[in-house]
Amino acid sequence: MFAVHLLAFYFTKLKEDQIKKVDRFLYHMRLSDEILLDIMARFQAEMEKGLGKDTNPTASVKMLPTFVRAIPDGSENGEFLSLDLGGSKFRVLKVQVSQEGKRNVQMESQFYPMPNEISRGNGVELFDYVADCLSDFMKHKELKHKKLPLGFTFSFPCRQTKLEEGVLLSWTKKFKARGVQDTDVVSRLTNAIKKHKDLDVDILALVNDTVGTMMTCAYDDPYCEVGVIIGTGTNACYMEDMSHIDLVEGDEGRMCINTEWGAFGDDGSLEDIRTEFDRELDLGSLNPGKQLFEKMISGLYLGELVRLILLKMAKAGLLFGGEKSSALHTKGKIETQHVAAMEKYKEGLANTREILTDLGLEPSEADCIAVQHVCTIVSFRSANLCAAALAAILTRLRENKKLARLRTTVGMDGTVYKIHPQYPKRLHKVVRRLVPNCDVRFLLSESGSTKGAAMVTAVASRVQAQRKQIDKVLALFQLTREQLAGVQDRMRAELEYGLKKKTHALATVKMLPTYVCGMPDGTEKGKFLALDLGGTNFRVLLVKIRSGRRSVRMYNKIFAIPLEIMQGTGEELFDHIVQCIADFLDYMGLKGAQLPLGFTFSFPCRQMSIDKGTLIGWTKGFKATDCEGEDVVDMLREAIKRRNEFDLDIVAVVNDTVGTMMTCGYEDPNCEIGLIAGSGIQQCVIACGYINDMPSYGRLQKQARADFPALTSLVYPSSPRYEKMTSGMYLGEIVRQILIDLTKRGLLFRGQISERLRTRGIFETKFLSQIESDRLALLQVRRILQQLGLDSTCEDSIIVKEVCGAVSRRAAQLCGAGLAAIVEKRREDQGLEHLKLTVGVDGTLYKLHPHFSRVLQETVKELAPKCDVAFMLSEDGSGKGAALITAVAKRLQQAHKEF
Ligand code: BG6
Ligand code: BG6
Ligand code: GLC
Repeated sequence: MFAVHLLAFYFTKLKEDQIKKVDRFLYHMRLSDEILLDIMARFQAEMEKGLGKDTNPTASVKMLPTFVRAIPDGSENGEFLSLDLGGSKFRVLKVQVSQEGKRNVQMESQFYPMPNEISRGNGVELFDYVADCLSDFMKHKELKHKKLPLGFTFSFPCRQTKLEEGVLLSWTKKFKARGVQDTDVVSRLTNAIKKHKDLDVDILALVNDTVGTMMTCAYDDPYCEVGVIIGTGTNACYMEDMSHIDLVEGDEGRMCINTEWGAFGDDGSLEDIRTEFDRELDLGSLNPGKQLFEKMISGLYLGELVRLILLKMAKAGLLFGGEKSSALHTKGKIETQHVAAMEKYKEGLANTREILTDLGLEPSEADCIAVQHVCTIVSFRSANLCAAALAAILTRLRENKKLARLRTTVGMDGTVYKIHPQYPKRLHKVVRRLVPNCDVRFLLSESGSTKGAAMVTAVASRVQAQRKQIDKVLALFQLTREQLAGVQDRMRAELEYGLKKKTHALATVKMLPTYVCGMPDGTEKGKFLALDLGGTNFRVLLVKIRSGRRSVRMYNKIFAIPLEIMQGTGEELFDHIVQCIADFLDYMGLKGAQLPLGFTFSFPCRQMSIDKGTLIGWTKGFKATDCEGEDVVDMLREAIKRRNEFDLDIVAVVNDTVGTMMTCGYEDPNCEIGLIAGSGIQQCVIACGYINDMPSYGRLQKQARADFPALTSLVYPSSPRYEKMTSGMYLGEIVRQILIDLTKRGLLFRGQISERLRTRGIFETKFLSQIESDRLALLQVRRILQQLGLDSTCEDSIIVKEVCGAVSRRAAQLCGAGLAAIVEKRREDQGLEHLKLTVGVDGTLYKLHPHFSRVLQETVKELAPKCDVAFMLSEDGSGKGAALITAVAKRLQQAHKEF
């Protein structure tokens, strides 16, 4: 009995002594809670640094956006392929996700070897090998005939700008294949897969193993918002608020961030806790100076750390009686699995003896106890460090959510966590101690990261299908060169119809004569009044023309035309106009002056003479009654009479296109076409006027109105749905109709058509110009849409921007095709091989839209290659031109009288 006690005492004493000895020797590896809290605070600062746009480039913890925005919601389904590359094992898998009432995932997988020659060889060969394994797997599973989406779990740091792309920042762990760093690994693998003609695989998602793990666990536990790997390497991901992620546009919802915490300390911030063993291990690694945090934690390094410590202790005579074996001198001889085995509860000591003996050593009882304790210190430090960083993430999550207590789940994976007997318990305990205000559930990912990767791929695949639908809709607005040439031909035919007496009545392009019969010759002079009605602004102008010098002075005032006047009676409208003239004359100190007046009236009018214009029909939001079919000059004269305050000599009524042509023609005699691409009051209108030679009258200018609706109906005979949607409408309205259509299909605004979207006219053309501006960030687009009452996500904003782009581009192309028809006609009419001319242009769409003018010009160039067309922007508006027309008409009247 006594002997037993003595033995027990002896053993306890021996143990104590050994533990004390090792504790003293590895003093620096034992981290107090105080130090851990300090490391936690450092990691919190590192995360902040990695998330900031300006600080990210120099941050060692890269905080990489993953473009995974939501955890699985159970609606995912389909059949997917998956590759799992970068952990201790390389696998190819097939995953079947089905919904059918309950969540159900079935997986079939195959492990393939990953020899060092491949993982550290040539990059092309690495991806070829991966593709070969995939091909082999598909052959065995009889999947070759299928087109399957693939999720690629690639467990290395990648900079992603979208889900299906990732540039490798650096290799870590055991990989170092040449020529892969800084390239997109998705396209590398795609290229390798393409070499197999019988494979049809689409890589839809690239995910880090941490992300896959988080998603796998989140499929079973919706509270899961963190993924941690403690395996060959170590890393964590978590769901971050978009508003904190500077590197990705948008501020709505959350996105998963791959922290790449393995690189924590690479900037020297952990030097105070790194030991001589960490430094030695680092020097002998594949990537010295890199992944310093990982090298204190993960499975690839724990065994080696233990070996280096044992060697040093042996050298110091503290172990094995100072004896060292050659195995103990050999790098990699102690692995993490050995460390785990040595720390086992019961068999631990026996395992230690066996392992040490296998290393060619002859350990005493005391040696075995000491070595076991070395293992404990090394693996405990690992768990402590992980706990500190994880505590920082949990605190961040809690603060993001502004909660006093956070309840959350952390998805876990990795061989260290899975096979080490004490590791999970230690980790959990320390985390709970460091963040007492977080209730954390640790959930082991039983099925690896693949299930999660398949979830991400399922969502990507749904997004891709939606994308295809959107592309299909927008494709209807893309015109080929042939289609545009067709529009040009038909416009050309319409121009001829419109000009001929016989066909004129039926022609869609009306070709209205304007009776503007002469260009200014420089002798005009005097003071003229001009009105400019029908554009965005209503203006009254005083234009002083000085003879000989071709110089004009203008004074103008903008007046509002209230909606109730636009849509009231004709009398009210014209009384309002006369009221504005009276105010202007008053303002200019010209009360009671009797001046000749040119009236820019930008609506379709049939003219019988230069001062007679019968309104054919209102456009651009005007609806005043009793005007259509009436002579607007008469109506103006009547209104002046009613006011009985001043008398004006209304000499000419002109369309804005004609005014613009004259404004520009005054400076450039080559200008014989006027074009307006404007917004009107709230809509967009494109119209064109040009000079037509009529031998019997000399040069008579005629105007062709090439309105946008007339053009659209020419282009889409084959698509009734969109013909209906586009004909007779303006750009903004077309956009609104497309948005309604996409929403109905569930592709926008979460499928909800708001009251606002149902409202006609909400999309003024100016919004198109703003939304399409390249300088505008997505957030600003979203703000514009919000101002319009459309509550959109960032994805919605991208789609709206695309819709606007497609619609305005088509408008510019159609306008260009129409213009090309006119310039070609001018060239042929004059029998010229080559024609050089200028088009005077005005209108807010042309002036303010970021792309309209460029696309228009490109189209004209392409469709009328024999014409050298210059575009001249009318800076002074069409009022100046109206005054010039009035001056010319006055001069001609005078000449006529004298004659
Ligand atoms: C596996 C996952 O379970 O764990 C992999 O499927 C991951 O994606 C791996 O990389 C990490 O652990 P280890 O120990 O294999 O590196
Ligand atoms: C102005 C002209 O500059 O442009 C108007 O003076 C013309 O006559 C207008 O109607 C067209 O552009 P918007 O965009 O104002 O309709
Ligand atoms: C390494 C990789 C990282 C991965 C981790 C776990 O740290 O850089 O991407 O998640 O290992 O496998």
